[in-house]
Amino acid sequence: MKIGSVELPSPFVIAPMAGMTDSAFRRLVKRHGGCGLVVTEMVSSEGLVRGIDRTLEYAEYTEEERPVSIQIFGGDPDKMAAAAQIVEGMGADIVDVNMGCPVPKIAKHNAGCSLMREPSHAATVINAMAKAVKIPVTVKMRAGWNDQSRNAPDLARMVQDAGAAAVTIHGRTAEQSYSGSADWELVSGVARALSIPVLGSGDCIEPQQVVDRLRSGVSGVLVGRGILRNPWLLAQAADLAAGRVPREVTPRERGQFLLDYIDLLVNERINEHDGFRHLPPCTSGLTPETALTPEPWALGPAARVARGRGRWVVNKLRALCAWYSKGFERGSHLRIRVNAAASVQELRDIIGEFFFQEASATVRAREMCQGL
Ligand SMILES: Cc1cc2nc3c(=O)[nH]c(=O)nc-3n(C[C@H](O)[C@H](O)[C@H](O)COP(=O)(O)O)c2cc1C
Repeated sequence: MKIGSVELPSPFVIAPMAGMTDSAFRRLVKRHGGCGLVVTEMVSSEGLVRGIDRTLEYAEYTEEERPVSIQIFGGDPDKMAAAAQIVEGMGADIVDVNMGCPVPKIAKHNAGCSLMREPSHAATVINAMAKAVKIPVTVKMRAGWNDQSRNAPDLARMVQDAGAAAVTIHGRTAEQSYSGSADWELVSGVARALSIPVLGSGDCIEPQQVVDRLRSGVSGVLVGRGILRNPWLLAQAADLAAGRVPREVTPRERGQFLLDYIDLLVNERINEHDGFRHLPPCTSGLTPETALTPEPWALGPAARVARGRGRWVVNKLRALCAWYSKGFERGSHLRIRVNAAASVQELRDIIGEFFFQEASATVRAREMCQGL
């Protein structure tokens, strides 16, 4: 599958998820295979243009994640075009526009899903961006704002005409938020009507669902919450699509994923070789006078540790485990213990006990039963 001139090695994509799909998580999913594209968490066009340090951090990615799409939000055509140029300057392969976020904080600024309420303005934004950059500009939208306005089919055509290279549709309205189920009929209808690739998003939890959705006529499938529960989901879907039995994941592998995630977070920007991490142009070009805020990476590892990296890692693990612990035995027990952990070492101990010691005890018990 190709988006503009960008070739995707697989049609399965990690959906953007604010607060969840950071670079460390994306790298680990990518290492398991089956993933054709990663999309960053959404970043503010305003923050990019003003050089706000937190925004710039969210847009970072590492070389091993390629192809990479950086998702931005905003409603001002000039600022969105300028932000797209910053994204292009960071070396990203694709710039994606968020037209799906229903959160009032975003929507009230004429951004996210509220752009779907003003289709011609939305098309103006895409047109300004497509003229400003050479990399493909893509759009991620919902089915519409509400049931009275399920206008994704019209808007998708309008952004295609304005220069978008691909469209993703999450088949729910903004008003639905996450209730009900995603309307894949609508998504595949749009896929049939457009000449650019149309990707679908929504409710894929099992590998077979990912493959079935792909066969419904879309060019690709984005997986969101399912991948937070099972980071091997895209690899398993790729196994199925290739006619192989989907790989099994052992409790030890599940535990190792969390330990690896902790290690990547703890060592972020410390043990990484030059050129591996793609920083926004201003991190190398801006001086303290031109940057509006001090940049954390300019402070050095020791200062960052002092700024509470441990607490940040603990919070990241709590957020992931809320999803990751769903659907497996004693998952709630893990969740409660991780939520009570106060340090990175405590987290490692809990994971070790839960996935390694308890897992081997279960295997031993099974072996003993089989021997009886
Ligand atoms: C915690 C969370 C954060 C999300 N953040 C974003 C985001 O930043 N940008 C975006 O376009 N969609 C975002 N989404 C929507 C997902 O990309 C996806 O379209 C939606 O969850 C439906 O797919 P799923 O059923 O596979 O989760 C988010 C979803 C969740 C659950």
